[in-house]
Amino acid sequence: MAGVSVVGTDTTIGRLGTAWGPVWQVRGYEDVRQVLFDDRFQPVRPTSAVNVLLAEGRFDEASRLRERDPDAAADGSGGTEFDNATRVLRLRVMNTVAAPHNVRRRTGEMRKLADELSRHLAALPPPVNASQGYTAPLCARAMRVLLGISADESARFVSYVGSSTSAAGIAGVSPRVRDLIGRRQRDPRPDVVSDLVATVHDRRQLAQLTNVFTWLLMGSNWEVPSAVIDFALAQLFANPAQHRRLAADPDLLYTAVEETFRLFVAAEVERGGLVRRAVADVELGGVPVRAGDFVLADVAAANRDPRVFPDPAAFDAGRWPNPHLTFGHGTFMCKFIPMSRALVATGLHSLLAAVPGIRPAAAPAGPDPTERIRGDEFEDLWVTW
Ligand code: HEM
Repeated sequence: MAGVSVVGTDTTIGRLGTAWGPVWQVRGYEDVRQVLFDDRFQPVRPTSAVNVLLAEGRFDEASRLRERDPDAAADGSGGTEFDNATRVLRLRVMNTVAAPHNVRRRTGEMRKLADELSRHLAALPPPVNASQGYTAPLCARAMRVLLGISADESARFVSYVGSSTSAAGIAGVSPRVRDLIGRRQRDPRPDVVSDLVATVHDRRQLAQLTNVFTWLLMGSNWEVPSAVIDFALAQLFANPAQHRRLAADPDLLYTAVEETFRLFVAAEVERGGLVRRAVADVELGGVPVRAGDFVLADVAAANRDPRVFPDPAAFDAGRWPNPHLTFGHGTFMCKFIPMSRALVATGLHSLLAAVPGIRPAAAPAGPDPTERIRGDEFEDLWVTW
């Protein structure tokens, strides 16, 4: 991507030169918050091949594809229309899965799972790969726990969980989800799959529900909290004084988790920010943004704005208040926040308790002895104690 020229009144808005055309990059906390909150800025929905690239902030590639294949921009290149029915169903499922009573109902199981996995890890001869051997299996299984999938049923999904959103992964998970739904129709249980299945009345709705459950169980969802736990460990390793502080005062767990979220940079943000398209003329930080313009809300920069976060580069396990924007803001804000917080806190707490002397280690020569789940998308995080 070409360089940024700064045009905002207080250097928080820059203009990126891309092959697609100028794109506003918004970096100051208040302006990023406005972009995410103001419905005149809408996400780009992946309704065409070009929009898929635009939605991911890959403007140069989108421009090349539009030139090569005008059909790939079929819906007018960069529109904000999308399959609303899918989003609405996803949100309905998310509301049920992440509802406080479901989270409460499953928290004990989640803790038990974290404790089992961390004890298992602690019994292995170090060094071990904590990402493959702990955080990834924990988060993959936690998603199944939330859906009420029992330990026996869970085994059927194991070899597919690491396949992210690949066609092979979907082809593997989807029939298992159909099986599960069939079992819950015949024999309902006190879980969200049974609750949701009871609300659908035709085959089309059932197929849509199957797709949403399949989507939920795919790596692209649970890999994010897993990466956050890895990142929390990396922050503690890089800041031994904060690690000692947390060990001495377990009450800091929740502020440490929040600080981890503040500094965590999700893949879409790493590409420049959350992508929005203005659907009306808007003035932003003194800059006139025109309808149709693209805007990148650089959440990572906003989370490091020194006007809001003193000493922003420092990992401060006790930082409070911590109004970070890592989960977004406004209409499209993440629907999984309480669960993500609980999962990261439980995962971190259990590992630190089971392996108090945990510290980084170099990767050994030879094969990885930790249990590998299919798919190799995870960063390795080698630890010893
Ligand atoms: C744990 C780390 C996570 C982070 C940092 C995170 C971050 C985000 C962000 C920044 C957005 C807003 C995107 C935008 O405004 O364009 C978002 C939306 C969303 N997230 Fe998360 N997320 C996390 C975990 C999850 C998980 C595990 C799930 C599902 C299982 C999930 C489901 C969703 C959904 C459904 C939306 C879209 C809501 C909508 O369309 O209104 N998130 N997330």
